[in-house]
Amino acid sequence: MKNILITGGAGFIGSHVVRLFVNKYPEYNIVNLDKLTYAGNLANLRDIEDRPNYKFVRADICDYDEMRRIIEENQIDGIIHLAAESHVDRSILDPFTFARTNVMGTLALLQAAKLYWESRPEGFEGKLFYHISTDEVYGALELTDPEGIESPFTTTASSSEHHLAFGREFFLETTKYNPHSPYSASKASSDHFVRAYHDTYGMPTLVTNCSNNYGPYQFPEKLIPLFINNIRKRKPLPVYGKGENVRDWLFVEDHARAIDLIFHKGKPAQTYNIGGFNEWKNIDLIRVIIKTVDRLLGNPEGYSDELITYVTDRKGHDMRYAIDSRKLQAELGWEPSLQFEEGIEKTVRWYLDNQEWIDNITSGDYEKYYDNMYSNR
Ligand code: NAD
Ligand code: TYD
Repeated sequence: MKNILITGGAGFIGSHVVRLFVNKYPEYNIVNLDKLTYAGNLANLRDIEDRPNYKFVRADICDYDEMRRIIEENQIDGIIHLAAESHVDRSILDPFTFARTNVMGTLALLQAAKLYWESRPEGFEGKLFYHISTDEVYGALELTDPEGIESPFTTTASSSEHHLAFGREFFLETTKYNPHSPYSASKASSDHFVRAYHDTYGMPTLVTNCSNNYGPYQFPEKLIPLFINNIRKRKPLPVYGKGENVRDWLFVEDHARAIDLIFHKGKPAQTYNIGGFNEWKNIDLIRVIIKTVDRLLGNPEGYSDELITYVTDRKGHDMRYAIDSRKLQAELGWEPSLQFEEGIEKTVRWYLDNQEWIDNITSGDYEKYYDNMYSNR
């Protein structure tokens, strides 16, 4: 494959994928297609923007005619589709935007790719539509032990679709979809469309479902960069509910490496779960973040604990996500490269060293949106 379209490449994960591909594959032409919503930021790609194998195109994936034109003009062979609305809290406030971009946008891109590839003499041969999805489509796993993951705990969910390993339940590739938030419902719907294009038209498609990502260039509305920034600014740290929800965290560069591997070696029509077996109860993770930021800022231990502020829980807040990624490990040999402590240290250092990046984003409209949202909690 020579001409690769990466959508959402100006966002958090997309920018890491674009950087990896541009650096690793000088023989590929990488086209980054992004609408530059509030979450898209070309400053994420300053280091590679002048490379001869890189091109940026500003467009909306919902614009079907534009998708047809861009795919044809660039003779696209492979698509890695990350463009999406991605924040659960925003989806609760504005579900229509999520249906529009995540569902209709994905469909526009699928159809545009299908028509272009069908028009080629080689047809679907050597082509791939790779859709990036989330573990949130599987729904939520339950915690019965209020002490959370630090102690041996069991789960009550009895569905045979769920998978037990190490005495705990995980999401498997075969777990039934059961999304709860407008965000996860829209991602689930787009996943179904992608698979339908394989099953109906024989288009080579692939879906991966990844756990929560963290690392540099994440928009500071998501837990980890938001809390690092708030500690620095001595703003309250809004912990939803009791802080007992559990998320499974993966360093973003490990996700990008998995995407590279799966794009080149994954089998079409397959699904792969991506995750690092790294579950954290929110409040425990928050304490690690506080400790790390305080240490790196030279504050005494415990200095920022007082910023923890328990606020009204998120509506429909999923209790626990946990991904079983052993299929990816067994079939393609992928493993996360970083221990969590190392990843968090790297991440906190990056945000503290790149204050201008974060200040540029959080000034203006975003600051107003954020303060307004949290004053209502
Ligand atoms: P992000 O919000 O940081 O970036 C999304 C990008 O998509 C932005 O650059 C935005 O400008 C662009 N975009 C939005 N609407 C668009 C449209 N209509 N047309 C073109 N571009 C548009 O998101 P992210 O965290 O980098 O997530 C990327 C993908 O990975 C998403 O599909 C998300 O569902 C999935 N995912 C994210 C996580 C996570 O923890 N962040 C985990 C698993 C899967
Ligand atoms: P988030 O980063 O929004 O990712 P997701 O909802 O997709 O998992 O949130 C991670 C966890 O942190 C989730 O359980 C919600 C919680 N959270 C807070 O407690 N406070 C916050 O301000 C945010 C943004 C999230």
